Amino acid sequence: MLSYRHSYHAGNFADVLKHIVQIAVIEYLKKKDKPFTVHDTHGGAGGYLIDSGHMQKTGEYRDGIERLWDRRTEIGVIDQYVKLIRQLNPAGKLREYPGSPQISASLLRDQDRLQCTELHSTDFELLQKRFAGNKQVRVEKLDAWQGIKAMLPPTHRRGMVLIDPSYELEKDYTELLPALQMAKQRWSTATYAIWYPVLDRNRTEHFVRQFVQAEMPDLLRLELCPRPDASGRGMTGSGMLVINPPYTLAQHMAQAMPALKDALCETGGHTLVKQLTGEAS
Ligand SMILES: C[S@@+](CC[C@H](N)C(=O)[O-])C[C@H]1O[C@@H](n2cnc3c(N)ncnc32)[C@H](O)[C@@H]1O
Repeated sequence: MLSYRHSYHAGNFADVLKHIVQIAVIEYLKKKDKPFTVHDTHGGAGGYLIDSGHMQKTGEYRDGIERLWDRRTEIGVIDQYVKLIRQLNPAGKLREYPGSPQISASLLRDQDRLQCTELHSTDFELLQKRFAGNKQVRVEKLDAWQGIKAMLPPTHRRGMVLIDPSYELEKDYTELLPALQMAKQRWSTATYAIWYPVLDRNRTEHFVRQFVQAEMPDLLRLELCPRPDASGRGMTGSGMLVINPPYTLAQHMAQAMPALKDALCETGGHTLVKQLTGEAS
């Protein structure tokens, strides 16, 4: 049974990194008129009310979006993220933090599509309800890896796959690489963005090494760790592995990281932008 609920964690420092990268990839896809599809393997509920009991219980958003909400950094990828979150809160107060499907949906043009899978019954129903009647968005109650089999490739050649497991089960770590390889066989031209937590540095490095050893061509690693590494003391940071990144992403994230570090990191925190294989052309 799945117990993870993203409603406790929405808008935290991990969502900030993940959603900045997600928006940057989609904005890059929008530079051409040709349509694209976003496939979101772990959709969550799609949106989270700040005043809800879950968000107030952990208060994690206070060390994430709340620290950026009022900042103007003059750094493109950060400002376009904050601008989007503000647009989704038109009253000028942070009332709801959007999940990744809502973020994608609000960036789609008429010709683009979004497809999501979500397995948790409650979150699936919330997600389905959010997009009811929206012909651009398809939501399925499916296991993420089954969804890859059933829904990829989409009709469009261009697009991105966001892979954002909760890592509550050991198999979330072990099944990811084979699932990614299957997805890439089906849809080789997509950009793949995989989020990972930093809970234990040795484990994180082992996880990342698998992707390098699997010879993923053109693999970019991004990491934002607000706290120093400390095994056994919860999530101290998180990262993204991006396969087939837009050629501009490494440079844009390298510009953004000092400002994100300044806003979100404690003493001893760190950021990383590293091309692991291939090179941005
Ligand atoms: C980290 S949350 C997703 C958050 C979302 N991507 C966002 O950024 O707003 C992970 C989600 O995956 C769902 N989930 C867990 N195991 C799954 C599986 N095997 N297949 C599909 N969804 C799963 C959980 O119910 C949870 O809603």
